[in-house]
Amino acid sequence: MTGRRGDYLEQIRRGGADLPPDLAAAFASVPREAFVPDGFQRRDGTWVCPADPEYLATVYSDDVLVTKVDNKIPVSSSSQPSLMAIMIVALRVAPGQHILEIGAGTGYNAALLASLGATITSIDVQEDVAVRARTALARAGISHVRVEHGDGYAGSSGDRFDRVIVTVGIGGVSPQWLSQLAPGGFVLAPVKHAGTHPVLVVSGPPEGPVTGTPVCPSGFMLAAGPLTADHPGAFPFPAGPLTDLLPVMPPRFDPPLGEIQYRDLWYAAGAWNRRASHVAVAGREQGCLALLDENRTGGAVIFPDGSIHAAGSSDQVEPAAIILDRWISAGRPPMQAWRVSCTLTGDPDAPIWAPDAWELS
Ligand SMILES: C[S@@+](CC[C@H](N)C(=O)[O-])C[C@H]1O[C@@H](n2cnc3c(N)ncnc32)[C@H](O)[C@@H]1O
Repeated sequence: MTGRRGDYLEQIRRGGADLPPDLAAAFASVPREAFVPDGFQRRDGTWVCPADPEYLATVYSDDVLVTKVDNKIPVSSSSQPSLMAIMIVALRVAPGQHILEIGAGTGYNAALLASLGATITSIDVQEDVAVRARTALARAGISHVRVEHGDGYAGSSGDRFDRVIVTVGIGGVSPQWLSQLAPGGFVLAPVKHAGTHPVLVVSGPPEGPVTGTPVCPSGFMLAAGPLTADHPGAFPFPAGPLTDLLPVMPPRFDPPLGEIQYRDLWYAAGAWNRRASHVAVAGREQGCLALLDENRTGGAVIFPDGSIHAAGSSDQVEPAAIILDRWISAGRPPMQAWRVSCTLTGDPDAPIWAPDAWELS
């Protein structure tokens, strides 16, 4: 394929996704612009309208399109296409399957799933977003998608699903989804881990045991409601950006770890140390892995070159060095090498299965 849609597929592949022929055909045929008719926010915070010259080129790029902002915080979007593709491949979609999607957003992901022959129920907690997704699906001529308004925690009553795909960051998996799964089904969801949202395949009976396997790193916006309820095992959240960093341990990796390897180290750090988190560091565009101190205002930052920098107290420097040693001597395991066990926690009236213990397989 040539032209804009051909370039689009190439960008999705360069973003790390394998595109089997049916999925490539879905990305090539579903018109993404039909799902962002009111435009979207640029990375610099300004709004792109359909009349703007760069509108179509941005729509057909491997970039997230933020479609709704509340108090400067993105609250709805069309996710990054390569991440959508990696998740759809991991979902192992087959024609005739029934799929529950949590986070309808623009409706574009549901449209891609429907193009693969599945029937989709997609839920969004924001009524205006659900209405717009419904209109967009009709505009694009997509059938076999039903969009519901509500908190996705409850799932969709009365139905059985072969798969549940969650396109918003959650703290744990709703037992309701597990009880609505058909035999052999599973949930694919970005579940909080050390300040990031690695996508996990999660399965098990609603009463447990519930286990998971990481698929890929991701960065999703946070879900509303009990899906992100705080719980005793939750990772700490930094009080603010870390400043006045002092180098305390020299680099260990030359060249520095690439993005994927850094995420692998990050995953291991979260599995081995419950102080691991995601921090903003002055002068760096990307967030960094850090072990936070007790009051969450300082700690030890591990950079992609393996150097450790301290902010405030130096209490977390030695634990950070231990993580690096352990990860290197384990042969730098990828995140996919971990097996996750979950515990039922969160809001007692609406509990979630959250990751609680990790083992290298
Ligand atoms: C990243 S967007 C989803 C992208 C979407 N799948 C697409 O293709 O455009 C996340 C969506 O999740 C929704 N959301 C947040 N919390 C939710 C919840 N508890 N239940 C259902 N939807 C939720 C938001 O309103 C937002 O529209």
